[in-house]
Amino acid sequence: MIDTELIIALRNARFIAALTGAGISAESGLATFRDAQTGLWARFDPRELATPSAFARNPKLVWDWYAWRRERVAAAQPNAGHFALAELERRASDFMLITQNVDGLHQRAGGRKLVELHGNIGRVKCSREDTLVERWEAPAGEVPRCAHCGAPLRPDVVWFEEMLPEHAVAAAEDAVRRCDVLLVVGTSAEVYPAAALPAHAQRSGAIVVEINPNTTALSAAADHVLRGAAGAVLPALVAALD
Ligand code: APR
Repeated sequence: MIDTELIIALRNARFIAALTGAGISAESGLATFRDAQTGLWARFDPRELATPSAFARNPKLVWDWYAWRRERVAAAQPNAGHFALAELERRASDFMLITQNVDGLHQRAGGRKLVELHGNIGRVKCSREDTLVERWEAPAGEVPRCAHCGAPLRPDVVWFEEMLPEHAVAAAEDAVRRCDVLLVVGTSAEVYPAAALPAHAQRSGAIVVEINPNTTALSAAADHVLRGAAGAVLPALVAALD
């Protein structure tokens, strides 16, 4: 049940922001990182796959894991949660979506005003020059290499130990400072700097709403907690604005 105070706050909000994590894509069939029974990390050791040192040590393993994830993302469809946020963007007088996800499902649901804090798995770049590469080919069993400098190609995502894109962090910080309501959807709120954004929003006077079937590191500090799946709660939230 969504309480009236929250509905009124959303109706009166000049600027609505949203921060999403892997949980909003769970109903699209994409595994989250930390849910114990299905989490992607449950089957892999993060240190083995998503760090610059792992890539340096075993570029083929890392490249293959991301190639597998790219195929799964391409086969996935946005779900009702993604579409509800795109509808909210159309209705709000000002809106910004900040996502930690690299699956591009917010864009495929029609989202336009968005910041990808951790990059996008659909983009590939040279691991030395950072230049994006549209097409690549590699002999079977090898990692494709940059046609310009010969370095191995890598996904354009932010790995552990790496800095986030400065422009993305600046846009996210600006959005949480200016928003009236911040919806925090499908994130365990454990990975920084993204996990610090809800506190920055509250310090700037915003109402923070957690949408998650489980308790997280944010739950105690949130102004409202809607304990449920994004695909059910977000459409109900948008419908309640009518
Ligand atoms: N609707 C909403 N939330 C859900 C759903 C759902 N249907 N299913 C699961 N969740 C919640 C889980 O309860 C959990 O709190 O989604 C959250 C997923 O948390 P994580 O797996 O930790 O994903 P995330 O918070 O996005 O991880 C942050 O860590 O590994 C790095 O870079 C990676 O972007 C990722 C970052």
